[in-house]
Amino acid sequence: MLVTGKQILDHAHENGYAVGAFNVNNMEIVQAIIEAAEETKSPVILQASQGGLKYAGVEYIAEMAKVAARNASVPVAVHLDHGTDFTQIMQCIRNGFTSVMIDASKKPLEENIATTKKIVDIAHAVGVSVEAELGKIGGTEDDITVDEKDATFTDPDEAEKFVKETGVDYLAIAVGTAHGPYKGEPKLDFDRIKTIKERLNMPSVLHGSSGVPEESIKKAVSQGINKINIDTDIRMAFNKAVREFVAENPDVYDPRKILGPAREEMKKVIAEKMKMFGAAGKAWK
Ligand code: 13P
Repeated sequence: MLVTGKQILDHAHENGYAVGAFNVNNMEIVQAIIEAAEETKSPVILQASQGGLKYAGVEYIAEMAKVAARNASVPVAVHLDHGTDFTQIMQCIRNGFTSVMIDASKKPLEENIATTKKIVDIAHAVGVSVEAELGKIGGTEDDITVDEKDATFTDPDEAEKFVKETGVDYLAIAVGTAHGPYKGEPKLDFDRIKTIKERLNMPSVLHGSSGVPEESIKKAVSQGINKINIDTDIRMAFNKAVREFVAENPDVYDPRKILGPAREEMKKVIAEKMKMFGAAGKAWK
């Protein structure tokens, strides 16, 4: 069932749980996510980054994700992750994405507001939901890098102004996570998550969630996070499974035999996340 990001995340916000938003780059990842969602009866978000869309092509990703969503027994949204390019955001909307992220977080506040509002006006006119980012989340997500020293936490006062002036549907907040693998254990600012939730009363988004310990994830959800982005942990599962299979079966050359076990491993990791986020059993008809 293909739905908008807002439908999925408003339900999560009202019922106090988080939905996994998993990055897709190819068919096996899409299938692993949908199978995990159906097995655990979880609503889910399939998201593609700018790099993923460049790799596979907007139309390929859009069609694959929409077929998967329409045939799924659970609610599925198709979302653009970290859009910084106006043209690409329009292409995603045109190709049937039901949610887009405009990431103007590197710009000064007023410019971030103006850029986000422009996308909100267009997307809302055609029924597409919008995520934006306020504060700067560290690390590297595909072609976007924020140096550790430049990462800044989201200010609750600014967040209130930002949401009021842009009309955005959900907000990515910087609270101590970073994209990519962690060197030490991330320290999350749970009080900030709670304050922002109380002030905004809308869905909040946590980026850079791979490698964050289960306890921290659960606490972040209890304080108000409703969308949790996972990319690196899926890549790791894929990478490990392919390497192991190839090492153990050096004579196999059928891509299906190599990628099939990787799909299974990714599915296991994804299903665990869905349970951890509190999304399991929350799918509605
Ligand atoms: P990770 O790669 O750390 O899971 O982050 C994913 C993400 O936040 C995508 O926007």
